Amino acid sequence: MGRLDGKTALVTGASRGIGRAIALQLAQEGARVAVNYQSSDAKAQAVADEISKLGGSAMLAKANLSDSAAAREMVADVAKEFGRLDILVNNAGITRDRSLRKMNDEQWEEVIATNLNGYFYCTSAAIPIMTDAKFGRIVNISSMNGQIGAFGQANYSASKGGIIAFTKTAAVELAQANITVNTVSPGFTDTDMFAEVPENIQDSIKKRIPMGRFGKPEEIAKAVVFLIADGDYITGQQINVNGGAYM
Ligand SMILES: NC(=O)c1ccc[n+]([C@@H]2O[C@H](COP(=O)([O-])OP(=O)(O)OC[C@H]3O[C@@H](n4cnc5c(N)ncnc54)[C@H](OP(=O)(O)O)[C@@H]3O)[C@@H](O)[C@H]2O)c1
Repeated sequence: MGRLDGKTALVTGASRGIGRAIALQLAQEGARVAVNYQSSDAKAQAVADEISKLGGSAMLAKANLSDSAAAREMVADVAKEFGRLDILVNNAGITRDRSLRKMNDEQWEEVIATNLNGYFYCTSAAIPIMTDAKFGRIVNISSMNGQIGAFGQANYSASKGGIIAFTKTAAVELAQANITVNTVSPGFTDTDMFAEVPENIQDSIKKRIPMGRFGKPEEIAKAVVFLIADGDYITGQQINVNGGAYM
């Protein structure tokens, strides 16, 4: 018997990387899981198939979350299909790294639209559903770089810092409805996103991590599942999962 038997979850950006690991672990705990993604149809289907193999239940929920109408419609579709929505993990994120001097408006806006606006649209659409049910667990994936800044990531670190602040206000507003809202902030984690960082920079980053290695998506997912399954009295908090890279 899983800790999340009978619950339903929506994980954004679940076709790959950290979102995929979160979707799989939630399913292992018994939740029915909606796998959101933007364009990787085959990868999202593979995640749903893996969940089925585990004896779980999954649905695909394709939508570009930087589009308010598309994001809201997707959340409504998931709640309708499952008959309820207990868990929302806002995880979908992108990078468009450039130094501030070279960053153009499009690179700034694209990152804010996906990483910050998308979290707002999905949360906003989930609130009435969770409030009516007097139950909700929301986890927002931020980043170590939303706390310390990083060269070339003014857009990304602004979005991720914004998520931490957004989480705290959402936690204050939603606590009375028994909806908890928390942040998990990964450090450097072995996914497609991090693979875009040039190898020589990856090597120098690794030397600065006290645990001497990059994180695995499954290690981020464990913290997310802890907050959802066991964090009944935890809200407005942030868990750093970064091998000691930022304390
Ligand atoms: N990897 C790291 O080192 C690291 C560190 C700190 C924080 N994080 C954060 O962790 C989260 C997951 O990162 P990751 O490394 O797993 O990323 P990833 O491997 O690049 O996967 C990104 C996921 O987000 C989806 N996505 C991107 N834009 C979207 C949009 N507009 N609408 C819907 N889905 C969209 C992608 O869907 P498609 O497959 O369809 O494109 C994919 O499922 C992000 O919020 C990221 O900022 C990552």
